[in-house]
Amino acid sequence: MPSPSELLADIRRVGRDRERGGYSRHVFEHCELELREWFVEQATRRGLEVLPDGNGNIWAWWPAPGDGAVATGSHLDSVPGGGEFDGPLGVVSALSAVDRLRAEGFRPRRPLALVVFAEEEGGRFGIPCLGSGLATGTVAPERALGLRDESGTSLAEAMRAAGVDPEHAGPDRTSLPRIARFVELHVEQGRGLVHRQRPLGVASSILAHGRWRFRFTGQGNHAGATPLDDRRDPMLPASLLVSEARRTAARYDDARATVGRIRPVPSGTNVIAASVDLWLDARAHSDADTRGMVEELRYRAEALAVEEGCEVLSSEESYSDTVSFDGPLRDELTGMLAAPELPTGAGHDAGVLAARIPTGMLFVRNPTGVSHAPEEYAEPADCDAGAEALATVLRRWSR
Ligand code: GLV
Ligand code: MN
Ligand code: MN
Repeated sequence: MPSPSELLADIRRVGRDRERGGYSRHVFEHCELELREWFVEQATRRGLEVLPDGNGNIWAWWPAPGDGAVATGSHLDSVPGGGEFDGPLGVVSALSAVDRLRAEGFRPRRPLALVVFAEEEGGRFGIPCLGSGLATGTVAPERALGLRDESGTSLAEAMRAAGVDPEHAGPDRTSLPRIARFVELHVEQGRGLVHRQRPLGVASSILAHGRWRFRFTGQGNHAGATPLDDRRDPMLPASLLVSEARRTAARYDDARATVGRIRPVPSGTNVIAASVDLWLDARAHSDADTRGMVEELRYRAEALAVEEGCEVLSSEESYSDTVSFDGPLRDELTGMLAAPELPTGAGHDAGVLAARIPTGMLFVRNPTGVSHAPEEYAEPADCDAGAEALATVLRRWSR
């Protein structure tokens, strides 16, 4: 019976990013497809019935699809240059939990389902939790299918190329309605468990969070031949907005605002950019704080653009309100596992499902506290404890 760490070792070579470090496993690209194949093979080897949905999510049922089911899973895609554990740890722990239950001769009375969600990170098409969002009806298929990646490929085209018929994208009427409870295991993306000196935790809440795109437009021109006073350089307001984001977030209670992605066009060393796209990731405890912060930044962006003779347009690309995980379920999980509760600032498919289905989350200690970067880590013994805890939850819920 392979341990979670051994299962992770099985896929360690897939999608390594030699330039950025870590892993770049983007949805429906060859390495993510290889991971999907690996999951299907692992599920099939365990006698599970594999049933893809119309959104690129993969369900694997034990023993077969049925109502009142208990589901667990996570995602296999990553951010650019991400860590090894964010997503895959939840998937390998689900497989390992099934192994543990089978080894003791357990037979689920309620069906069990393992699930791999597509494009949780939004690393290719920009919208996080796209697979779970489409399946729950939170994201409209008309909008999602037209999203384009950096090379101009649409989600519909990428799905088709991956053998997923985009005609079937949209609310899942096959697997999701059968799920009575969902639990996602995830590497912790902070040091809450390190501080508490505990290997496992139970999620209490997720910050409200969203993504906004700002497009600053100026006049592309020659870097040497254009006097400073004659410029309309969109890089100026864009770069000033980066520090404004930090300053603004600091005035709110435990809020975060980040610019991790910026794209000047045409992007030449001796060229004043014609336009700059900048993405803002903003998170806070409440809808009011998150939106308040973004409104302030929109206002500042406008003023900064005008000062440089530029224009700015902003648009919301995704938004998810604060999630407070189901209270009775949290109490049950903390009691069952003797684990502490902790909040998170990271988004998850479990957060999307929580609006529809009683949902819980388990966190596994991350000694570095770093995530979305190659330093993300979990000790093999903690991964074992996580899979064992997940088996405990599935055993309890499915009997
Ligand atoms: C996903 O990990 C997110 O929080 O952006
Ligand atoms: Mn992530
Ligand atoms: Mn994740």
